[in-house]
Amino acid sequence: MIWLVGNRGMLGTELSLLFEREGVEFVGTDREVSILDPAALEAFAAGKGISGIVNCAAYTAVDKAEDEPELCRALNVDGPANLARLAKNVGAWILHISTDYVFDGTGDRPYLESDPVAPTGVYGMTKADGERQVLENCAKSAVLRTAWLYGAHGPNFVATMLRLMKERPSIGVVADQKGTPTWAADLARAILAIARSGRKRYGVYHFTNSGETTWHGFATEIHRLGREYGIIERDCEVKPLRTDEYPTKARRPAYSVLSKEKIKADYAVEVPDWKRSLSEYFSVTYRNVGTSR
Ligand SMILES: NC(=O)c1ccc[n+]([C@@H]2O[C@H](COP(=O)([O-])OP(=O)(O)OC[C@H]3O[C@@H](n4cnc5c(N)ncnc54)[C@H](OP(=O)(O)O)[C@@H]3O)[C@@H](O)[C@H]2O)c1
Repeated sequence: MIWLVGNRGMLGTELSLLFEREGVEFVGTDREVSILDPAALEAFAAGKGISGIVNCAAYTAVDKAEDEPELCRALNVDGPANLARLAKNVGAWILHISTDYVFDGTGDRPYLESDPVAPTGVYGMTKADGERQVLENCAKSAVLRTAWLYGAHGPNFVATMLRLMKERPSIGVVADQKGTPTWAADLARAILAIARSGRKRYGVYHFTNSGETTWHGFATEIHRLGREYGIIERDCEVKPLRTDEYPTKARRPAYSVLSKEKIKADYAVEVPDWKRSLSEYFSVTYRNVGTSR
């Protein structure tokens, strides 16, 4: 029995739906069984024969984290540590989701799992500490870092861009930060491959879609598809901005492309191209939009 923790978040919902479709035996919980409460976790796990835990619960508000460091640390460090200890106690494996924000983004080639972490903000620092807690507290643990996630079940960049592009004649989007947009459904499939593998390898892994772009490049593609699907009725100019023209509370990595060679080699997962996945996301999410107006 797999325990999906954080099953109502963006990734957790995607994974629940995939597990259901694929007939995976699993139970899911979110806030009602808090990862901050070891006794509640233990009580929930009792008698269920938990063989694996997938942790999608986290504090994910990157800028707000700068003002709420204690809460962010509790959810991203103490919570995962509690889950890893529980996994160890019940003899289960644990797969914990992490982020490209553990890197400072000064690199110029795809980050390897073995590259040293150097987070710059509260969110990234707590995620890096949470990774360590999981790896140290349970021998059968894997950390899966991802980046620039979007999907149908939570607030995300695609939804925000479409809303702004509908409302405004032009928008400015940062053009000097590079990374890889990643569809939550593709990540869910990679997690399923790991969960189902009979020959699990542990340690740190990276998964995003393939290729790279900037937030501006991502927004330009969203605009193109938004027009094609009739979601945006008039052209909206997508203007490139420098990071210093769009100040945010937390600093973002300038370069956060992740290498996927290790997960491809160890788990034979597919790593679809980001543009193809974005296009597929539009086709499954917005296919009736233009005709329903
Ligand atoms: N989104 C991205 O762009 C991105 C990029 C890289 C990595 N990641 C990582 O991917 C993972 C999933 O991200 P996501 O975007 O799916 O996150 P999300 O939508 O914010 O989901 C997190 C879930 O955890 C729940 N939660 C909060 N406190 C909890 C508690 N005490 N006990 C149990 N559950 C609790 C949240 O509930 P509430 O909603 O009620 O708070 C929410 O349902 C995270 O580890 C994140 O760091 C995300």
